[in-house]
Amino acid sequence: MRTLLVTGGAGFIGSNFIRHMLIAHADVRVVNLDKLTYAGNLSNLKDIEDDPRYTFVRGDISDRSLVNRLLRDEDVHSILNFAAESHVDRSVLDASPFVTTNIGGTLALLDAAREHGVHRFVQISTDEVYGSLDSEGVFHEESPISPNNPYAATKAAAELLCRAYYRTYGVPVIITRSSNNYGPYQFPEKLIPLMIRNALGGKPLPIYGEGKQVRDWLHVKDNCLAIDLVRERGEGGSVYNIGGSCEKENIEVVERICSILESTMVKEVAASSDHLSPHDLIEFIDDPRGAAHDFRYALDSSRIRESLGWSPTIGFADGLKSTVAWYRTHREWTENVISGEYQEYYEKVYG
Ligand code: NAD
Ligand code: TYD
Repeated sequence: MRTLLVTGGAGFIGSNFIRHMLIAHADVRVVNLDKLTYAGNLSNLKDIEDDPRYTFVRGDISDRSLVNRLLRDEDVHSILNFAAESHVDRSVLDASPFVTTNIGGTLALLDAAREHGVHRFVQISTDEVYGSLDSEGVFHEESPISPNNPYAATKAAAELLCRAYYRTYGVPVIITRSSNNYGPYQFPEKLIPLMIRNALGGKPLPIYGEGKQVRDWLHVKDNCLAIDLVRERGEGGSVYNIGGSCEKENIEVVERICSILESTMVKEVAASSDHLSPHDLIEFIDDPRGAAHDFRYALDSSRIRESLGWSPTIGFADGLKSTVAWYRTHREWTENVISGEYQEYYEKVYG
């Protein structure tokens, strides 16, 4: 039995990853270390909380004595560091928690890994470290790192520490840089779940600027499969791009959500608003990110495709449809994970 320390496992990608690991590997135990910030919710893992191969520990990755104790007492084989402050708009409002957790927390984990020795340290990073593209070109793993917003800068800094700990101390670090994830259990501050929630409630759908920015969408299950492969067979010291090869302008994504809702549940939407069509809820607003708003991300994922045989399995049409259906049938989950803090945040960004 191998023990994995998964940090940030009560968040969106981490909870999907833990569920995947427990189902896919009978010989794996998971210790989930999560601080339960606004983005972390134990309800994301309700279905597996009694699994004898799963343990939850509430705590901060920056808490060195806690992390050291866990590595010692739990005989941890590998660390997968998902824990982070993850939302760009929040980082524009206040970068401090991003520096503390994304940089300081990663450093604490690296030091503990160095002291106790682990077989793998997978750092979950992002394509945002590369900065922005124009309408042409793609990022390769060797492309320069050039982050434009505070969130991306802290993720890039964490990566550099990981690289240095691999070179300096031989900590067996591997870095994954994925594109934008979507799917179940995503906190409704990110584009797709925010738009679905608002449309279901008959609220405005706020598109930044003209909605022409491009993101490369990846279903969270495909990211989990990729991270699992990297964990098992990735090469120490390497970086792996994990892209969905699914570039869409924001306006198209929102239009598609509206069309899915219109075709599957027009009555419910109509009943909760004065609008006949969810498309009528679309509003173009002043871009709260300003110059920090990256225009386009696109990844070349040949390395993971060719060396580990990974490719995305869920097409955007099916993935978006099932995601809309998930949020439609989990409205209680969505309303439970948001609180007064969310309303305050919403007010600050959307006015
Ligand atoms: P999320 O915000 O949904 O979850 C983050 C989790 O980390 C939460 O459970 C939170 O409670 C926990 N956490 C925060 N600070 C902590 C701390 N100091 N100690 C312990 N736990 C802490 O984020 P997500 O979308 O699931 O992203 C997971 C990782 O993937 C992040 O590292 C993020 O940078 C990266 N990533 C996300 C995307 C995406 O599209 N969501 C894309 C690329 C990379
Ligand atoms: P987001 O989901 O926050 O991911 P990221 O900024 O990490 O790529 O945003 C995706 C895109 O959608 C980004 O270009 C900003 C835009 N966006 C809106 O237009 N309106 C919104 O309410 C949100 C949250 C995002």
